[in-house]
Amino acid sequence: MRRIEGYVIVSADGMIADAKGVMPDSIRNDADQRFFQSALDAAAVVVHGRHSHEGGPRAARRKRLVLTRQIAGLAPDPSRPNSLLWNPFGASLEQALEASGVTDGTVAVIGGPEVFSLFLPLYDSFHLSRAANAKLPGGLPVFTEVGPHATPEDVLTRHGLKPGAQRDLDAAAGVSVATWRR
Ligand SMILES: NC(=O)c1ccc[n+]([C@@H]2O[C@H](COP(=O)([O-])OP(=O)(O)OC[C@H]3O[C@@H](n4cnc5c(N)ncnc54)[C@H](OP(=O)(O)O)[C@@H]3O)[C@@H](O)[C@H]2O)c1
Repeated sequence: MRRIEGYVIVSADGMIADAKGVMPDSIRNDADQRFFQSALDAAAVVVHGRHSHEGGPRAARRKRLVLTRQIAGLAPDPSRPNSLLWNPFGASLEQALEASGVTDGTVAVIGGPEVFSLFLPLYDSFHLSRAANAKLPGGLPVFTEVGPHATPEDVLTRHGLKPGAQRDLDAAAGVSVATWRR
């Protein structure tokens, strides 16, 4: 069985990076990283845009689809052996997964904003971590629809997902996660 799951950590105001497009230390958290990295270890494939990457010592082992408009559909990734470049305009998700040799398991979507947004109709689950003590005004929102009148939660609700209980990952740092499910 295949599942599509999103993973993100946002600031109190729903941002994944600052106004320069950089993910700052104020939203990085060790407990969240452990949660995130072990979920990716269990995933069949990791999906992200050309400027995102989860990093960490096990990243090279993971199958990967990297979104870019620089190719027509699907192409080998010259910088990473387990990775394919993918332009959804020219190749479907099914074709991309088939080319990666992925038939079942979790497709883990890890950003950035356009990629998180592209998958909104498809998520089975979305794991929304929040660093409640950090604000990133003018930063990059988790979804392109997030703005002064729409929080990440509003957007997930609009797209048919419902929240699970909020769990502390690091109470002292104000970091928690809630899993939204369709
Ligand atoms: N807090 C978090 O959990 C989190 C999560 C993810 C990312 N981030 C941070 O966010 C920043 C990166 O953000 P970003 O907006 O630059 O995101 P990105 O999605 O990683 O990269 C954007 C690039 O991906 C490609 N792309 C995106 N959507 C596409 C589509 N529909 N079709 C084809 N290609 C597509 C394009 O590549 P081409 O230019 O090659 O066409 C685009 O320029 C980094 O600082 C990263 O650390 C934080």
